[in-house]
Amino acid sequence: MDMLILNNLISPISKEKLSYEDENEILTSVLSKEKFKLLYQIPILIPSTDVADYSNNILEILYGEKTKEIEDYYYDKYKGDPYIELTKKIKKDFDKDLIISKFIEYSKLENSEKLKWLIKVDKYNKQISKASILKGFSYTTVDNGKKRIEITKEMKVSWAIHLDDYAKLVTESNPKFILELATGAGIGTCGIIESGLKNSKLYTIDIDFDCVCNAKGIAKYCNLEKQVIPVVANFWYLPFKNNSMDMICSHYGLDESREITRIIEEVSRVLKKDGNFVLITRKDPSIRLKQTLDGFNFTYNELIYLAKLGGLFSGLENLINIAKTYNLKLDFINEYSPKNSHDRILYRFVKNY
Ligand SMILES: C[S@@+](CC[C@H](N)C(=O)[O-])C[C@H]1O[C@@H](n2cnc3c(N)ncnc32)[C@H](O)[C@@H]1O
Repeated sequence: MDMLILNNLISPISKEKLSYEDENEILTSVLSKEKFKLLYQIPILIPSTDVADYSNNILEILYGEKTKEIEDYYYDKYKGDPYIELTKKIKKDFDKDLIISKFIEYSKLENSEKLKWLIKVDKYNKQISKASILKGFSYTTVDNGKKRIEITKEMKVSWAIHLDDYAKLVTESNPKFILELATGAGIGTCGIIESGLKNSKLYTIDIDFDCVCNAKGIAKYCNLEKQVIPVVANFWYLPFKNNSMDMICSHYGLDESREITRIIEEVSRVLKKDGNFVLITRKDPSIRLKQTLDGFNFTYNELIYLAKLGGLFSGLENLINIAKTYNLKLDFINEYSPKNSHDRILYRFVKNY
């Protein structure tokens, strides 16, 4: 493993620096001897008790530890679109008052409880399931990389009309180290690569192993394997040293996570002084809640109240205020209104201390 790449990595648990054991393909922390495996050369930098998979955070607040079981069942049964059926299930299991009380209950949890991934490795559930390993492998291929780049080009014409501007803000200052939060389907990653990485190293992280594998495929297709470094990690415990990144960016990562304040705190810790945080979010923070809680007739204000209780993205103003408390000052903003999709916002914050 490239020393330059390794130098920025730390244990997400003890925050100690890591060393690479070539013969065992693991990363170990020097003092506490924690071990983190690599799969397809991708470091899995989360506690071994956590699952490298994503669960819808609104469902997590409602169903807690049962979320994974419920999601798996619905994904299996309704492969096309499980969310229509899941919405019906929520309607059966909850009424409006019960939903509000679940969110209030969540908001009263200790911080340490909120920052736990509610889905855990248990005797049925490996950290990375066999299905995910197989799916991930197919995503690490040159073919998948090519497909992702082509899809991104199509999306730029249809709905991702903001992507070139976003990618330009990320790359134009020629940052030495970039950290992307939320690899997801790789649209943001492709945008950044297409805009020209020059000599930058791009770490891209996601909690979901399959998603991170997309970055491997894209890097292979673009011959950038030395510059694009996929890592499985949680936004709440970034496995990167303090003041190590020149640029942190996210293309729709914050919209789909819980505990936004914690993410901003971590972003501020990891960014260098004068470093930038560039991101895209939906303009209307109620959209996801409205879709998942369809049929309960929540008003806009009620949905924003739920978003705040859940630590979910709750809009531009709230995000700017949280960022300010962590010394991230807004210095650029732009709005986009594509014809067939939601309005969105591009922001750039600068770490000013
Ligand atoms: C909408 S997707 C990102 C889209 C992606 N950037 C793209 O352009 O294709 C959101 C991603 O955030 C990841 N995610 C959500 N919460 C997370 C967390 N706390 N830590 C790490 N990843 C998280 C999910 O696994 C999901 O892949």
